[in-house]
Amino acid sequence: MTHTAAQIRHEVEEAIRALPLQSNPPLLYEPIRYAMSQGGKRLRPTLLIMAAEMYGASLHQAIWPAIGLEVFHNFTLVHDDIMDQSPIRRGMETVYKKWSPNVAILSGDTMFALAYDLLLRCQSPHLRDILHLFNRTAIEVCEGQQLDMDFESQAEVTISEYMEMIRLKTAVLLAASLKTGALVAGTSPDEANRIYNFGINIGLAFQLMDDLLDVYSDEALFGKKTGNDILTNKKTFLYLKAFELAGDDMKATLKKAFTLTDPVLKIETVTALYDQLGVKEATLSEIRRLHDTVEPFFSTLPQGVESSEELHQLTLGLVARQF
Ligand code: IPE
Ligand code: IPE
Ligand code: MG
Ligand code: MG
Ligand code: MG
Repeated sequence: MTHTAAQIRHEVEEAIRALPLQSNPPLLYEPIRYAMSQGGKRLRPTLLIMAAEMYGASLHQAIWPAIGLEVFHNFTLVHDDIMDQSPIRRGMETVYKKWSPNVAILSGDTMFALAYDLLLRCQSPHLRDILHLFNRTAIEVCEGQQLDMDFESQAEVTISEYMEMIRLKTAVLLAASLKTGALVAGTSPDEANRIYNFGINIGLAFQLMDDLLDVYSDEALFGKKTGNDILTNKKTFLYLKAFELAGDDMKATLKKAFTLTDPVLKIETVTALYDQLGVKEATLSEIRRLHDTVEPFFSTLPQGVESSEELHQLTLGLVARQF
């Protein structure tokens, strides 16, 4: 029996609620509980379990690596919010704001170790491959995060450098989630790599959408501070597209806007320039292009399995999401 996205989500929430978290010291464990209980889309465990079921494994076999990767993802967010100076996530104060950067660092470190313990619960003859993939992915995420930080103060960043940065910071984890599901089910290495590559393209589109929503989403729905990427001079797809589309005068105006010190004025001014340049449409069109490249993949997935269609719907939803 396979499960719908909503059913998987329910099982994931139940497993997270039952996580073996101690109480002492409270300043180590409370932030972990706080971060893990805020929900979020639970995209990575959902992808992992869908892939596992699609290739013939059970939810039961896939649940612990799925939770392990979700804990890892949340760890990266706890540290990312320090690095990005982000005040809110999922509509709540971020861990480092609510407690302190030191608390966020240490709770995050603990979450990383906890993620390993959860992965180790997986009873699979492919556990070694699963852990190897996890390690490689974790290192790549750090590489991507470092490039993201480097780019904040680097004057010239090309769109292809940006695409490589987001492949590392975001896409590899979505791809690894799908591939881990495939490994749990014992698919062939070729098939596991095929779904990994599909995950990379979906992951790239996902990060472009995240960049877009950072500027254009309603804070109440998106749960993150609108315009935070503008405030921190992130070299997002929107930023790079804007400079690509701008003529010389407009480039100078944009540069000046990014030096504004008043946060409200800076966000308003840059957003208005993005609007003038049609950056939103350009980003949406790149998201659609990436999605179109993966569309043929769906007809090659196991047929007659509900999970194949669920996966298709889920990825369509990511491209069309409003928050
Ligand atoms: C946020 O990931 C970080 C990015 C890679 C853009 P999600 O958008 O999946 O965050 P949650 O877990 O649903 O809150
Ligand atoms: C996040 O990218 C990537 C990782 C956390 C590894 P962002 O910095 O864009 O994610 P959000 O917008 O804070 O969720
Ligand atoms: Mg970041
Ligand atoms: Mg961030
Ligand atoms: Mg973002």
